[in-house]
Amino acid sequence: MNNRPRLTVIGTGYLGATHAICMAVMGFEVVGVDVDPGKVAKLNSGEVPFFEPGLPELLTKALETGRLRFTADFADAGAFGDVHFICVGTPQQRDSPAADLTYVDAAVTSLARHLTRRALVVGKSTVPVGTAARLAELIRSIAPAGDQVELAWNPEFLREGFAVDDTMKPDRMVFGVTSAWAEEQLRSAFQPVLAQGVPVKVTDLQTAELVKVAANSFLATKISYINAMAEICEVTGADVHDLAEALAYDERIGGKFLRPGLGFGGGCLPKDIRAFTHRAEELGVGQAVGFLREIDGINRRRRARTVDLVVELCGGDVAGKKVAALGAAFKPNSDDIRDAPALDVAATLAGMGAQVVVYDPAAMDNAKKQYPQLGYGESALATAQDADVVVLLTEWTEFREIDPDTMGAVTAQRRIVDGRHALDAARWRGAGWEYRALGRP
Ligand code: UDX
Repeated sequence: MNNRPRLTVIGTGYLGATHAICMAVMGFEVVGVDVDPGKVAKLNSGEVPFFEPGLPELLTKALETGRLRFTADFADAGAFGDVHFICVGTPQQRDSPAADLTYVDAAVTSLARHLTRRALVVGKSTVPVGTAARLAELIRSIAPAGDQVELAWNPEFLREGFAVDDTMKPDRMVFGVTSAWAEEQLRSAFQPVLAQGVPVKVTDLQTAELVKVAANSFLATKISYINAMAEICEVTGADVHDLAEALAYDERIGGKFLRPGLGFGGGCLPKDIRAFTHRAEELGVGQAVGFLREIDGINRRRRARTVDLVVELCGGDVAGKKVAALGAAFKPNSDDIRDAPALDVAATLAGMGAQVVVYDPAAMDNAKKQYPQLGYGESALATAQDADVVVLLTEWTEFREIDPDTMGAVTAQRRIVDGRHALDAARWRGAGWEYRALGRP
């Protein structure tokens, strides 16, 4: 078992499917497990159930090797695997900022029942600190192999849109373990990744859990920091775009995650900072991360302010106005609409009586299901037809490349709100557009 452990991956969402496919491509025998038979069937037939550049090709390749298959059967997974990765979601609870651990608990419980020999269970999901210790106990009490089964924590830092690269060659790996044996198993399971010189940090379970939320909190803070500066720019006539560029030259600050605009969304940053704040309060140290509430507040205000800009451009009232909303996904190169700022803005404008038409290159199906009250166009240009105002909400390359004259020929008015600072302001103004962007004069 030492050289090439057999792997299972529980949960085949953005994280798990990518992990399972990449591990098989890297030479491991892998079984992916999901409770959704629809997803299992799709994956087995070579179809990735979500949008992720490069992944469909790798799925085909992995299936062809015969090293990868998907199942809904936990008994199968338990019998097969030496190392089991838990990759299920931990969304925000409906009525609380806390993380919903139902899926993690269910996955671990269903798997542990079938662990009859020495095995390692590895948590990858983002969880509140302390969860791993609780799960280790749970596994020991349920698994027929008892304390022969160990738990490790290996947080995942993959970004949607770059999931394959981030999995094959991550910036670093974190191994939260409680024994040398567990570390050895993880080193074997990631041998092809580590062979490329990827640094590993070995820690205890609770530090590994914390690395993930600390990293995401830092990234969220950086984004909200520059967006807070945008608020100041708005009342002073300064330009946050130039400000950010000037800050970025300082290597201590750096330009990454310093792009101002509509702010962060997605299935990770927003819910992670809320769950972290909640967990810190439970632990009696809420004050230490109280600033994350501000980070969340700044981020929400960006959405409200974007709505304000659209209203301003429409002369103070959007009722009956046609708004062309470009973008639905929470970021480009993704079809993920979880906590998507774009759809939040579009739905708010629709709620104010605007006739909103949305277009997104990848997220249309997801958006239509969740926001049936919005209109949907066939393309960016078709969406802009007769629009009183265009609002760019997700910075897809195809939107960046729009020619202002071509679009201006179909809209009713040449007015645009650039919610992502994605366009060349001078060029659009030169083509007669009234151009507005958050934090820019
Ligand atoms: C994030 C983390 O980057 C990743 O390491 C972690 O594993 C999961 O959460 P992801 O949610 O895929 O990944 O998206 P990311 O690229 O981090 O973007 C998050 C949001 O921040 C997007 O809505 C994006 O538009 C926004 N953003 C990002 C900004 O508004 N400004 C920036 O400068 C960067």
